[in-house]
Amino acid sequence: MHIVFASHQDPGAWLPALREALPGHTITVWNPQAPPTGAEGAVVWQPPAELFEHERNLKILFNLGAGVDAILRMPQLPSGIRIARLEDAGMAVQIAEYAVYALLRIARGFGVYERDQAAGRWQPQPGLLRRLWPVGVLGLGSVGERVARVLAALDFPVAGWSRSRRAIEGVQCMAGADELPAFLARTRVLVNVLPLTDATRGILNRRTLSQLLPDACLINVGRGAHLVEQDLLDLLDEGRLAGAALDVFEHEPLPPGHRFWSDPRVHITPHIAGTTLRDEAVESVARQVGQYARGEPVSGIVERARGY
Ligand SMILES: NC(=O)c1ccc[n+]([C@@H]2O[C@H](COP(=O)([O-])OP(=O)(O)OC[C@H]3O[C@@H](n4cnc5c(N)ncnc54)[C@H](OP(=O)(O)O)[C@@H]3O)[C@@H](O)[C@H]2O)c1
Repeated sequence: MHIVFASHQDPGAWLPALREALPGHTITVWNPQAPPTGAEGAVVWQPPAELFEHERNLKILFNLGAGVDAILRMPQLPSGIRIARLEDAGMAVQIAEYAVYALLRIARGFGVYERDQAAGRWQPQPGLLRRLWPVGVLGLGSVGERVARVLAALDFPVAGWSRSRRAIEGVQCMAGADELPAFLARTRVLVNVLPLTDATRGILNRRTLSQLLPDACLINVGRGAHLVEQDLLDLLDEGRLAGAALDVFEHEPLPPGHRFWSDPRVHITPHIAGTTLRDEAVESVARQVGQYARGEPVSGIVERARGY
């Protein structure tokens, strides 16, 4: 099978590994100036729209990321093309680490100690009582399940919320719109790892965030468009929320002068919570290509109607 590599990432870093993992397949860098190759598959990350106008034989995309919201929004995306996404591929553990870091920074006062050190102040914070820090994880897929398990293993009271009901040992699993109010009402630290879809866009807003326990915190590692940023700022100003750790933003890079840059209650990182690891991603793509080539069900196939 012929596969083109279409990504703004340096192909030199990917091609040798893809070719080694996929002997028997032809892998070339997509070249919009050359005649179409007739490739059936494409390994992509944020592909340009011209790819679909140029390579008209494409049947399947192998996305080098977990989220597919940007691809699904492309008007040029042919309706029949299938999309396989990365499932975990080393991202889940990174995002679990991020959630632990952000939670402990808030709950154990490590952010306070950073400021105390800068001020030359020796001031122990009160100890952490886990029962006062119930965590709620929005999304229990490849990433959310790992996040929920890791936080539960640290003895935090953890609940998770998904579309269909999941069963995860040590995690209170809730599902569907009907159970969202009860999920929010028992949550003090809300970790968002939902995919961005029509149903989840703007889900972190004044109405939902106001239902959290007092002194609640938000950790957003899903997508920036899940959050209504002004609602978060208003709730922080009103004292309804205590803080936020944000890895993703409505506009990335976060524009200069945005209030998040300077608000001491908001801790920001530049969309690094779960980075694509080349070796794990290549292994995952090779598995999916193999499944496709053998006519087997391909893992990680996106259901376009539901948007993830
Ligand atoms: N910040 C970063 O660096 C980074 C890195 C990787 C991923 N991400 C983000 O994390 C997202 C999740 O990745 P994943 O691999 O865990 O996705 P996934 O395996 O597809 O899991 C998605 C989860 O969200 C739930 N869900 C989807 N729509 C819902 C709705 N309307 N109501 C309630 N629950 C809903 C799903 O419910 P069901 O279980 O019922 O299907 C599932 O549990 C990605 O889409 C991406 O946006 C961010």
